[in-house]
Amino acid sequence: MPTTDLGLEKTLAALAITEAAQVNARFAVLRAHFDGQFQTVHDESEWKLFRDRWLGRKSGVLTLITDNWLKPATPELKRAVGQELNKLRAHVESQIEARRVAIESGTEESALLRERIDLSLAGVIRPIGSHHLICQVFQEIEDIFFSIGFSVVEGPEIETPYYNFEALNIPEFHPVRDDMDTFYLELPPSSDKKTAPTPLLLRTHTSPMQIRTMEKHKPPVRVIVPGKVYRRDNPDATHSFAFHQIEGLAVDTDITFCDFTGTIEYFVKQFFGPSVKTRFRPSYFPFTEPSVEFDVSCPFCGGTGAAAGGGTCSKCKGAAWIELFGAGMVDPAVYGFVNYDAKKVSGFAFGIGIDRLAMLKYGIDDIQVFFQNDVRFLRQFP
Ligand code: FA5
Repeated sequence: MPTTDLGLEKTLAALAITEAAQVNARFAVLRAHFDGQFQTVHDESEWKLFRDRWLGRKSGVLTLITDNWLKPATPELKRAVGQELNKLRAHVESQIEARRVAIESGTEESALLRERIDLSLAGVIRPIGSHHLICQVFQEIEDIFFSIGFSVVEGPEIETPYYNFEALNIPEFHPVRDDMDTFYLELPPSSDKKTAPTPLLLRTHTSPMQIRTMEKHKPPVRVIVPGKVYRRDNPDATHSFAFHQIEGLAVDTDITFCDFTGTIEYFVKQFFGPSVKTRFRPSYFPFTEPSVEFDVSCPFCGGTGAAAGGGTCSKCKGAAWIELFGAGMVDPAVYGFVNYDAKKVSGFAFGIGIDRLAMLKYGIDDIQVFFQNDVRFLRQFP
């Protein structure tokens, strides 16, 4: 029964109550109503609503009884109403207070239960990643060159043909460009729509940083440049369209071919171990003169070409040597692009393919595994 049906808005006279026995009966109904509603109060918000409905100062049930039943009651009924009202108030107040205490201790208990930390539960093991093998090899090579006075610089992967080719002495239509076919960026037309926008490409090697470094710094220069490079090569076991290189450049007034070979030999022995031997063969790059290709005696068969169990070594295919990277003395023509005096300075440069170097050192036979990110592979190089 809603509280509004209890006749609280009316006076006793309007309810046709004229005797004390009728008053007692009314209060008995009210009390039963209270007890019934009280069963539904379980939590704090229900408790607050219930308390206001019965004890609210302005329009709570007890206030309405006082205003509408007690105050206008006839002198004969006033005493009976007063007594019944006091009994009802005592019942209502004590019940409501008791429920408050019960709810509060219950809430605390359940909060305590909720917040309890069970130290015996197994923890969540979050796997910690590690550096990719390519990063590890970069780090290893950087440390070796740091130890002999080189510093690291980095450059843009998106280049202009000028830095990637022309300033490296590779003019347009030079046949060497065929070996370094790359990805060109599709550019929006220039704002005046008359001049063509400067073409941009993904760099095919880290060598453009030779030019950018020499443009910025006067000799002596001694830098290495780790980074990603791109070529329109079809993927296979030793080719990827995105791979990694480290460029090296040293230019000063008195750098000789001996400094060049000595530096490379130091690096190779540090990287593969002191027992490997190096050799160089003539090669060709438009930006070095003379140019060479560095080989290392096969670290897997000890430079014999024979496998330990008989037959030929599978790594060097019996050749006893493995080709490592290209290098050379900086071509004097390149100095012309960076305002160095070719008569006063000399230097050397090299470009190491990191992926193939890592494959060689760690016995990996397919370059594609570096890019597939299979954790079973990555976990082998923590
Ligand atoms: C160059 O890129 C020259 N800039 C290197 C250089 C620098 C020479 C300074 C002289 C002075 P080359 O095209 O040979 O050279 O590439 C260098 C290395 O990159 C190769 O030895 C090889 O290890 C690696 N490489 C080339 N193409 C790929 C490819 N598609 N995938 C993986 N590695 C590659």
